[in-house]
Amino acid sequence: MKSNLEAQEFPWPQGFLWGSATAAAQIEGAARQDGKEDSIWDAFARVPGAISGGHNLETAVDHYHRYAQDVGIMKTLGLDSYRFSTSWARVVPGGRTVNQKGLDFYGRLVDELLEAGILPWLTLYHWDLPQELEERGGWANRETAHRFADYAEAVHGALGDRVAHWTTFNEPLCSSLIGYAAGEHAPGRTEPRAALAAVHHQHLAHGLVAKRLRELGAREIGITLNLTNAVPNDPNDPADEEAARRIDALWNRMFLDPVLRGSYPADLLRDVEGLGLGEVIQDGDLETIHQPIDFLGVNHYHDDNVSGHPLPAGEAAPLLPTGSTKSSPFVGSEYVSFPSRNLPRTAMGWEVNPQGLRVLLNRLANDYPDLQALYITENGAAYEDRVEADGSVADPERRDYIMEHIGAVAGAIEDGVDVRGYFVWSLLDNFEWAWGYGKRFGIVRVDYDTQVRTIKDSGLAYAELIRASREPK
Ligand code: NOJ
Repeated sequence: MKSNLEAQEFPWPQGFLWGSATAAAQIEGAARQDGKEDSIWDAFARVPGAISGGHNLETAVDHYHRYAQDVGIMKTLGLDSYRFSTSWARVVPGGRTVNQKGLDFYGRLVDELLEAGILPWLTLYHWDLPQELEERGGWANRETAHRFADYAEAVHGALGDRVAHWTTFNEPLCSSLIGYAAGEHAPGRTEPRAALAAVHHQHLAHGLVAKRLRELGAREIGITLNLTNAVPNDPNDPADEEAARRIDALWNRMFLDPVLRGSYPADLLRDVEGLGLGEVIQDGDLETIHQPIDFLGVNHYHDDNVSGHPLPAGEAAPLLPTGSTKSSPFVGSEYVSFPSRNLPRTAMGWEVNPQGLRVLLNRLANDYPDLQALYITENGAAYEDRVEADGSVADPERRDYIMEHIGAVAGAIEDGVDVRGYFVWSLLDNFEWAWGYGKRFGIVRVDYDTQVRTIKDSGLAYAELIRASREPK
């Protein structure tokens, strides 16, 4: 299924949620207003060379002041739901005491959403750890998990009467491995042992919060993972097969299995032997982590085509070398590369292969049959926009990317996978982490000089799809 028209004609299940997603640090700005203090991203942005263009999060797209206008845009688009995150450094500055003014902002946002008939879908951690907690060890320190549970309880105390959907973490892979091993995300550390400790402590924090929120009466609790298909470049080459297995273990199953099965994959434990993961796992942790969840959020942008090579003799094998993000990790004794395939690419250099999403969703349904419900909590693309003389914004590649991926979701539903919603990333152009403002993912363009918002052609097409999907078939 490719065209907008076909996606429009698909009989979407009753109640399928159409939404859009953002994250606090990427859009809010007001970095020091009403009691907010530094998160690790505010601090990281001050490190010379850390962020392209030397950009920072001070103003971002000024959502803190423009949230009502932004909710108005969501209403115009016809969204059912809005996925956003709360900023820990705003709600509990420094990880110390609760800041009522910070909570009040999210109260205003939630009220505005409800008033507009839009379901708030709240994420508690989208990468903005209070800097003071990082100075005490950050996610490598087990104590951070307990501080996170206190923060979550404060947010639930303020919004639990109006917010039904609670997501503990967004993409823990990035905030552990890319932040603590590759050093390309805040806090910019290149310590594989700390990275694995961060993985485990984020899992623990997820479990503690899922349990606590459930006790406090929350009914819809989940986690969002970024998942990929690790495809062997040459399926007949055992080295490529092995590389794909390692990447799948490190990037997918290390995050899925503890939460959904209560254990780390045995092959992963072998791959990372000697990097201290076993030492941070305490008795009872995996039971805490293995809480029932009500949904799994899936963020998916592209597959990974992998090829394996033996490490040169005598070479050390860090988990992820400095300066590599996901581009050429070493795992165990293997060197993994990501050869180019003959596929179109987005402005991030990511392959476009919509059918990968259908494959991934089927795999999740097969491998984790107890999963309650799947939501695509992020999918979208960075491309250059073309601003026309009449002010409209032409972004045909983004429009096609989104429509083709929605087509793949429809395909997975036809295959019998229980997918209940789709959130496009992102509502607005915003701060794309280490890339700064240079990569635009929005279905709404933001003029960074004036903060004027303009719905792009992709946004108009999405709105039309949402409208059409509600018509009886
Ligand atoms: C994943 C992250 O959750 C989001 O913050 C980011 O901007 C998008 N992917 C695009 O890279």
